[in-house]
Amino acid sequence: MTKILKAEFIASDIKKFEIEAPLIARKQKPGQFVILRVWEKGERIPVTIVNSNLQQGTITLIVQGIGKTTKQMNLLEAGDELHDLVGPLGNPTPIHNYGLTVCVSGGVGTAEALPIARALKAVGNTVVAIIGARTRELVICEAEMRAFCDEVIVATDDGSYGIRGVVTVPLHEILERAVKPNFVLAVGPLPMMKAVAEETRPYGIKTMVSLNSIMIDGTGMCGGCRATVGGETVFVCVDGPEFDAHQVNFDEIAHRQKQFVAYEQESLQIFQKHYHEIAEQCHLNRQIKALEQNRE
Ligand SMILES: Cc1cc2nc3c(=O)[nH]c(=O)nc-3n(C[C@H](O)[C@H](O)[C@H](O)COP(=O)(O)OP(=O)(O)OC[C@H]3O[C@@H](n4cnc5c(N)ncnc54)[C@H](O)[C@@H]3O)c2cc1C
Ligand code: FES
Repeated sequence: MTKILKAEFIASDIKKFEIEAPLIARKQKPGQFVILRVWEKGERIPVTIVNSNLQQGTITLIVQGIGKTTKQMNLLEAGDELHDLVGPLGNPTPIHNYGLTVCVSGGVGTAEALPIARALKAVGNTVVAIIGARTRELVICEAEMRAFCDEVIVATDDGSYGIRGVVTVPLHEILERAVKPNFVLAVGPLPMMKAVAEETRPYGIKTMVSLNSIMIDGTGMCGGCRATVGGETVFVCVDGPEFDAHQVNFDEIAHRQKQFVAYEQESLQIFQKHYHEIAEQCHLNRQIKALEQNRE
């Protein structure tokens, strides 16, 4: 069992957790993730380690509730426990001094890009962050990015904040500047990462994407996260999660992500039907635990 020390919503359906995990906090590097289970019979989901605090022995996770397991996780509060947590998994992002770098992120991908952008800045890069979201309320981690980035550009699909449009609009403008970036990182939904790859390809700029394939074991054994990069089969959990964007077969990953949609939808429908009972049960469990602690 792994204890949740803090939990707060930072946007609609997006929750930030501080989790007690001293061993992971000690080893974690930017780009790595954990695989967790909310409860004993729950599925295993990969979540990026956004930050770690060595003194407190904690890691920060930011979770967007999009399906059954992530919505179930977002019901948890400080004092609750995750059933298990494995990590750090995946390869750390190679951090070099490229000069001018651009970190493009969309949705919850901004939380995943944050530790990498911070590490790029720490070794002397000029870092421009482009943060994309559907609407103003879904822009996350902007203040954290502004704390160290040289430039932060926000783009919302509906124009409610920052530039109206998708992240490739400001990216295109940057690519047309006299001084070109030497490195671009993209983290977010697959169509966004594919669009960034196509945008930088004609300029020949090194571009990496953090792939979000479906994962099960996270050890290279199950094959669930299989992808094709440069014509070769890779396993995102052990060979990635970052890959050369210009070599990734995005369409194959998109196809594989859809293979369980019917089950995912059924599972979500059942969860939503019983949402209030499950939330009430979580609340009761908290009260029972508090009573037991008072008795001790
Ligand atoms: C290395 C890695 C790091 C990740 N880091 C984070 C993070 O920091 N925060 C966060 O909120 N999410 C992160 N994700 C995505 C997260 O793991 C999925 O959102 C989660 O597994 C979905 O589970 P679910 O049961 O809630 O939804 P499901 O019912 O399984 O899926 C709901 C919908 O999301 C799609 N989906 C399923 N799995 C993924 C996936 N891996 N990526 C994208 N879409 C998916 C499905 O096709 C379906 O349309 C990460 C994924 C990977 C591979
Ligand atoms: S998650 Fe099983 S091989 Fe990568």
